[in-house]
Amino acid sequence: MPTETRNKNQPFRMIAKTLFGLEEILSKELADLGASKLKIMNRSVEFYGDKQLLYEANLWCRTATRILKPFASFKAANEKELYQKVYKIDWENYLGIEQTFAIDAVITKSQFSNSLYVAQKTKDAIVDQFRDKAGRRPSVELNNPDIRINIYIYQNECRLAIDSSGQPLFKRGYRNKTGKAPLNEVLAAGLVLQSEWDKKSSFVDAMCGSGTIVIEAALLARNIAPGLTRKQFCFMNWPDYDQEMFSSICEKAREAIIPKLNFEILAADLREAAVYDSKDNAKEAGVVEDIRFKHSAIKDLIPPESPGVLIINPPYGERVSVNENEIEELYHAIGDAFKRNFAGYDAFVFTGNLVAAKNIGLRTSRRIQMYNGSIECRLLKFEMYQGSRK
Ligand SMILES: C[S@@+](CC[C@H](N)C(=O)[O-])C[C@H]1O[C@@H](n2cnc3c(N)ncnc32)[C@H](O)[C@@H]1O
Repeated sequence: MPTETRNKNQPFRMIAKTLFGLEEILSKELADLGASKLKIMNRSVEFYGDKQLLYEANLWCRTATRILKPFASFKAANEKELYQKVYKIDWENYLGIEQTFAIDAVITKSQFSNSLYVAQKTKDAIVDQFRDKAGRRPSVELNNPDIRINIYIYQNECRLAIDSSGQPLFKRGYRNKTGKAPLNEVLAAGLVLQSEWDKKSSFVDAMCGSGTIVIEAALLARNIAPGLTRKQFCFMNWPDYDQEMFSSICEKAREAIIPKLNFEILAADLREAAVYDSKDNAKEAGVVEDIRFKHSAIKDLIPPESPGVLIINPPYGERVSVNENEIEELYHAIGDAFKRNFAGYDAFVFTGNLVAAKNIGLRTSRRIQMYNGSIECRLLKFEMYQGSRK
């Protein structure tokens, strides 16, 4: 056993990975769970805590994509040195001979240029050590391994970490139906948290697609841990897995759920099939009773009473093909709908088409840079005042 795993309550270093632009929000989520020595990095947050916090971070963090536990770091000038240093680590501490494993390699500004090759070399060193010691080796399984090892190389600094999450945490387990361009669940939760919605006034997504934004909003408002619908985390395959501790964390999370909301969450879409899909997904997530679903174009949608928050993720004209005039008209219609029907709302538009977004024709009060996959986007905020203020 490594020292860290023997000393059950000793704090150790962890790294929570996230998406660009969500680092501050994730850091706050971790602080609320009791994490210490938080350090914001690029698309990740470093923090310290014990095993309980590792489990809670996996269960509760809405904006983390995975939680890593680093266990070794060294310098390596080339593949040979990398192999030798990986071979020196006592792999029995992290991986059983009967278990399956996979290596994720990430490389930044380094003389190592091929992440697949780095993953291969790392895997070779691990299996060679097992073969040399025991004559047998654990097998590689790329899709759903028992143990995931992450190797991160920056210049010639290599950091090895064990991945406690496994499947990324945006795979919540509720979204079986999707439209053409569904949002990543972590991104959707990040949009809701960026909006600073107070969780007690109306919430609307007038272009809901598969319903990700409203589902994440309902989970947040009812204090439902986003990981409660997941069946599997990789830490469950670790030799020090404390099933009793994790069951008690889940039990407490279930007790903390707010049974009913006393305000309206509204999901609407022009496509009827999207409305049905959203409903099915919300059912799966356990929040179907918290959301009203409506088949409507944004121009005809009458929102619940203000104050409220609206977040939409309209087509950008890239992934969802719409011709140029149509996309301009669509954004124009969004601006008109905001002016006509959304007085008293904070309205947010998440888009990767900033040229089309000019057609909204209203002044933004905030513009937050984020990414949707590889598409650079902005979350644009429009404050729609009541009465005469524009
Ligand atoms: C990019 S998708 C939204 C994806 C969604 N956020 C999700 O996670 O699945 C855009 C959605 O806007 C809808 N839409 C397009 N024009 C609309 C309009 N005028 N009124 C309402 N919905 C519209 C489309 O049917 C589509 O479902």
